[in-house]
Amino acid sequence: MEKKFKRTLITTALPYANGPVHIGHLAGVYVPADIYARYLRLRGQEVIMVGGSDEHGVPITIKAKAEGVTPQDIVDRYHAIIRDSMQGLGISFDVYSRTTSDIHSETASEFFRRLYDKGEFVEKTSMQLYDEQAGQFLADRYVTGECPHCHAQGAYGDQCEKCGTSLNATDLINPRSAITGNVPVLRETHHWYLPLDRWESRLREWILEGHKEWKVNVYGQCKSWLDLGLQPRAVSRDLDWGVPVPVEGAEGKVLYVWFDAPIGYISNTKELLPDSWERWWKDPESRVINFIGKDNIVFHCIVFPAMLMAYGDNYQLPDNVPANEFLNLEGDKISTSRNWAVWLHEYLRDFPGKQDVLRYVLTANAPETKDNDFTWRDFQARNNSELVAILGNFVNRALVLTQKYYGGEVQPAGELAEADRAVFDELRRLKSEMETALDTFHFREALKLAMDMARTGNRYLQETEPWKLAKTDPARTATVLNVAVQICANLAIAFEPFLPFMSEKLVGMLGGDNISWDMLGCDDLVPAGTRLGQPELLFEKIEDDVIQAQVDRLTRIKEENRLKSWRPAPQQPDVDFDTFCKADLRVATVLDCVKVPKADKLLQFTLDDGTGTPRTIVSGIARYYDPADLIGKQVCFIANLPVRKLRGIESQGMILSAEDRDGRLVVMGPTGAVAPGAQVK
Ligand code: 2FM
Ligand code: ZN
Repeated sequence: MEKKFKRTLITTALPYANGPVHIGHLAGVYVPADIYARYLRLRGQEVIMVGGSDEHGVPITIKAKAEGVTPQDIVDRYHAIIRDSMQGLGISFDVYSRTTSDIHSETASEFFRRLYDKGEFVEKTSMQLYDEQAGQFLADRYVTGECPHCHAQGAYGDQCEKCGTSLNATDLINPRSAITGNVPVLRETHHWYLPLDRWESRLREWILEGHKEWKVNVYGQCKSWLDLGLQPRAVSRDLDWGVPVPVEGAEGKVLYVWFDAPIGYISNTKELLPDSWERWWKDPESRVINFIGKDNIVFHCIVFPAMLMAYGDNYQLPDNVPANEFLNLEGDKISTSRNWAVWLHEYLRDFPGKQDVLRYVLTANAPETKDNDFTWRDFQARNNSELVAILGNFVNRALVLTQKYYGGEVQPAGELAEADRAVFDELRRLKSEMETALDTFHFREALKLAMDMARTGNRYLQETEPWKLAKTDPARTATVLNVAVQICANLAIAFEPFLPFMSEKLVGMLGGDNISWDMLGCDDLVPAGTRLGQPELLFEKIEDDVIQAQVDRLTRIKEENRLKSWRPAPQQPDVDFDTFCKADLRVATVLDCVKVPKADKLLQFTLDDGTGTPRTIVSGIARYYDPADLIGKQVCFIANLPVRKLRGIESQGMILSAEDRDGRLVVMGPTGAVAPGAQVK
């Protein structure tokens, strides 16, 4: 980081409190933000990290309606889960608040009111979709329909999730109310709009000229928005959940959630530092960094900066917005509504004490430049072959050998040999590369470099072989193990931003307390004479059955989703009646039914078809029936199909079955007894 800034305010996208947080949120926003905050703190810089739950907006009211509870009940529930689970993962917020707090309503109201008083809004009357049965306007997600761009069905009134285009509800083709399913009507209403077009040239200059260093994905998205030309955007909604519009005659209207949410960053800072918050927002020597996912870029780079410019009063625009792409799960897009996610609170329950493993995997696989995939097999492999085999193994060898030869007391190092000095040179080189990576938000790369430090330690032990030296050269052994212990202390520092739980444990085992980034690369961090704590394993192997349980959970969810989304097969093309009549459908009584030997799927039926000669039919339904249960029942069959040989048995027709949504076959028969051989018409 260049020295021109005195302090850094890190903001993290406020997650909607309509569900818990999942690995996508963590990889995209909270883990990288936390790494950055911890790194700056370790460097002794003035830094705060603020966050909170986004508790307004339509999805929350829809969920409340579906559950028959109030929106407040919903946000109370999820805010607590989100706050506690983030804390459980060691996300080191200085404040984690919520947008239903009083301080937030006041701040957001005042912000709106000032823009209103300064004439920064335009007020417009327009026709909006209205659900007559529900008696309300259909803002944003209250309406779904066909996307006018990619023609996907189920696009929302504010965005098509298929092609990502941001929409107005009235753009949708064939809109339907998400409340009643009715076709909405158009009704007149009025709203306040922020004329983004007024700010276009300042935004162009600020981003396209002033921030060429921003990530390519962020800069590119801003450029295409700006090149399309900015339009006024409505900042109020007809809804009863949100911050009321603080203007006379605005009853029944609230601030648009995307107007109040980013102001949450300001209210969070106020809550944390009631007397000095302005320093973090208005002093040109402070910088603001917004950590967000890619779907939030336009709001943070275009809309919120325009709001801040309109407000004036020296508010600083973000210095950087290191937005990430998306993380998928086992090849599919993460989805809260389809339960296709690894939920943080469930992970913490299922993998107690393994916070750092998740942090490691999400960073090593972070979707920094493109979408990436989380798989449980990769999670296991990275734990077992990187954390256990490289980092844990090195630290364990260094500490166990010191325990074995010196009862855990760090020995004085003699004069360092060339190989010893080379190790610290290497650590300092890696440190400097780590700084470059961390300062430019390349966290995957920085983590890889930290891992290279552990690899350096392993190589050092491999080359010096203190377990052999101990027999021949006690003085050299003492030096080598001193160096190994110093490497451990270096690892505790280098990994602190990424694996804070491991780092704290390791610092404790080394008998230390305070660490700082400046200490990284030093060869004298643990003084001779220090008594090391009992060596404990930093990481343990994760076995196949533990991973299989998670994979099975996802398989179950996929199956449930398949069932939920099942629709009857589309109707076949018409046939004329005469053609239909050619199929000779009849009823028969089952005289006998047995499994066909060595065929899992087949049952052999002997049927009374009314002719006096038993008819044999082989049918592929063995997985769904106990043959004895079918004896005596009546079934429908097609009589005039050509005879087919199945497993050497001549099958004289086909028994009719219906295929249920789970693929199960159910035999068709008459609802009342009929004479065997009766025709089905
Ligand atoms: O996309 C989201 O989950 C939003 N709740 C993010 C809001 S970020 C900020 F502006 F508060
Ligand atoms: Zn679309």
